[in-house]
Amino acid sequence: MQVSVAPDSATAAAVAATWVARQLRNAVQRRGVASIAVSGGRTPAAMFAVLAAMEVPWAEVTVFQVDERVAPDGDPARNAALLGLFPVASGRRRAMPVTARDLPSAARRYAASLPTRFDVVHLGLGDDGHTASWPPGDPVVESTSSVALCGEYRGHVRMTLTPAAVNAARHRVVLATGADKADPVRRWLLGDHSLPVQRVHRTDTVLVLDQAAAARLPSPAR
Ligand code: 6PG
Repeated sequence: MQVSVAPDSATAAAVAATWVARQLRNAVQRRGVASIAVSGGRTPAAMFAVLAAMEVPWAEVTVFQVDERVAPDGDPARNAALLGLFPVASGRRRAMPVTARDLPSAARRYAASLPTRFDVVHLGLGDDGHTASWPPGDPVVESTSSVALCGEYRGHVRMTLTPAAVNAARHRVVLATGADKADPVRRWLLGDHSLPVQRVHRTDTVLVLDQAAAARLPSPAR
């Protein structure tokens, strides 16, 4: 896994955006279309804003969600608003159907709408070593489906891509910034299997950090 350390969070966002833009351009060049699944939380908005202004054939790009909190439309907890940062037609913004009455069948429907392989999956890293909506100890990581529901975590049940879908992607980028990520980054790279992020294959994955999140990198990765 390639590890890139930027001096600050804004530069880390720009490094990740530049890498994603290149993967999307290559995908469209090779296959005529591109697909990306994006995570939520607080970190990604800066990266998505930079990415949206970059040279990408957006008319051929479809944007999916990695995960979404089960909450009403418009709820500030929802990640769906982040999809609005991408300059794609509304039909190419594929929000997870978390307001459906029957969530398991909604998850199956969303799974059926996915590409066989994403060109890019963007992941964040939680301070407890989760990624996507794979809470520590939650059996969602064992699901053989591409999309599943985890138990309640930090106030919400969530719909999420599973490791099966994330690891089938051609490329993955993990963007983590801030001092609260230094410990989970260290534990991840040292192989702590209690961390859900450990389920992410390291081949074809890049990890982009700022100095604060890289503060405890094990020495060989520096
Ligand atoms: C979510 C995200 C989640 C996120 C991490 C990091 O819905 O919460 O998809 O996996 O990437 O929790 O979140 P921050 O960027 O807010 O630290």
